[in-house]
Amino acid sequence: MFTRAIGAMAENIEDKEMIDEVLQRLAYRHLRLDIDDKDLKVATDIFVKEMGSSGDKVWQAAFDKMNPRIGKYMKDLEKAGVS
Ligand code: HEM
Repeated sequence: MFTRAIGAMAENIEDKEMIDEVLQRLAYRHLRLDIDDKDLKVATDIFVKEMGSSGDKVWQAAFDKMNPRIGKYMKDLEKAGVS
């Protein structure tokens, strides 16, 4: 599930607009899975744990920022009737 979008995001972590665009797209792609930002947190926590000590804090911090936004965008999309 990690494609170039995530790589591009990691490289452009300063570019807030670009990140938001990627997160909106991710929300759209995950909308039909019936998950919310809490599910995203569970999944990303496992991912970070599996990675071990190599940069785990950086990834954890990144996911902690991204997941609630993806969750919000999923809710927005649902409200807008996209599902
Ligand atoms: C409960 C957690 C998650 C599940 C069950 C899940 C499942 C999936 C599935 C089934 C797809 C394919 C969707 C499609 O082709 O339409 C997908 C795509 C993807 N997922 Fe996840 N995912 C989860 C969390 C995440 C998280 C936390 C991230 C990154 C922050 C992520 C990044 C991606 C990316 C980059 C794609 C490809 C999107 C694209 O091609 O545009 N996923 N995921």
